Amino acid sequence: MTDDGFTVTPYTVSGEIDYENVLEQFGADRLTDEQIARFPTPVHPLVRRRVFYAGRDVDRFLSAATAGERHSIVTGRGPSGAMHLGHIIPLYFAKHLQQQTNALVYLPFSDDEKYFVTDNSLEEIGAQTRENLRDLLAVGFDPDRTRIIVDTADADVIYPLAAAFAPSVTGSTFEAAYGQPKNIGHAFYPAVQAAHLLLPQLVEGRHPTLVPIGVDQDPHVRVCRDIAAKRRYDVDKPGALLSKFLPSLDGPGKMSSSSNSGTTPTIYLSDDRETVFEKIHTHAYSGGQPTVDEHRKHGGDPQADVSYQLLHSFFEADDDRLDRIEREYRNGALLSGELKEMAADAIASFLDAHQRRRRRLDSLETELRRYRLTEHEREHARRRVGHSTFKTMI
Ligand code: TYM
Repeated sequence: MTDDGFTVTPYTVSGEIDYENVLEQFGADRLTDEQIARFPTPVHPLVRRRVFYAGRDVDRFLSAATAGERHSIVTGRGPSGAMHLGHIIPLYFAKHLQQQTNALVYLPFSDDEKYFVTDNSLEEIGAQTRENLRDLLAVGFDPDRTRIIVDTADADVIYPLAAAFAPSVTGSTFEAAYGQPKNIGHAFYPAVQAAHLLLPQLVEGRHPTLVPIGVDQDPHVRVCRDIAAKRRYDVDKPGALLSKFLPSLDGPGKMSSSSNSGTTPTIYLSDDRETVFEKIHTHAYSGGQPTVDEHRKHGGDPQADVSYQLLHSFFEADDDRLDRIEREYRNGALLSGELKEMAADAIASFLDAHQRRRRRLDSLETELRRYRLTEHEREHARRRVGHSTFKTMI
């Protein structure tokens, strides 16, 4: 933990996060009103409401995206367990932008990373990778404009790139960005995530890339930007769009598979309607008053209320409806129980639709075929870092 009373790294998020302070620590920029206005319309609520609140080189990406020039998005997943609501934020946002601007979207899966940093066996990570991939496919990306990469399955392209980048990441760079490595696999991994972030440019040629992620992932972007600057591969430094976290049900902090207190459940993408209602009713931290009478008199605090925060972050897209909910909660007309019902209903409906699309998928192998890098794309990326394959020799 830093002197500021919180920690945000890709491997630890704890304490009460001061999001402005994180930007100072990381050296990223707050999104400006002008930048928000430059996003393609309708501007996604995640941007309008500043859930994505900061970034790096957002302007360059927006210029290319709005001018119809080549641009790409990279966002990914480390398959360490079942996916929860927090994980869908960058994915559904990437899909929205792809629909608006026809962006290329690259979606890497760091199964190696999760083996290095968790206690899961390779078999467990493999099983989670398959489950998570189905969730990713259920989001509904355009197969012609999207590539899905799994580190260990696409090692023929990821490993040569990561190897090319690894000498640019010294031990002290690692420590400054992430703390002590758990093992040598972990120490190598930033070169792998750098390969993910530069891959669209290595395949398609130099162009602006945006990486929408939770702010915890920003150290990977920083390390990659340094590599891009040092290695002179004729690539742009990847830009980033950084989000605040969807809160855990028990209050501020990051929704994750293990809650702040360790006892509060998380809402998973596989939860059914009844489970969502039960979790919200029993566990969602309320900004309301202890009794109905007091609530009617004094009103509630939407900023502290997790149900309101979930609606605000993602699950109520209509600004007018959200304003009304906030007003009525503040003045006591809307009770905590009623607010919980609204949040639970919105989340359950979202999950119903997600799960319906997931059920309709074909086998994973059949689905993934349409999203794999082609041989030509792999070869192109390898050549761009100076690697030549020995196909003719083996
Ligand atoms: P992972 O699997 O830990 O998280 C995937 C994405 O979900 C975001 N996230 C959240 N966002 C909002 N609220 C939350 N409560 C919440 N919890 C998680 C994370 O910030 C992340 O954006 N190393 C990566 C996977 C990866 C990757 C990449 C991501 C590999 N290559 C390239 C982006 C770009 C990881 O372990 O993410």
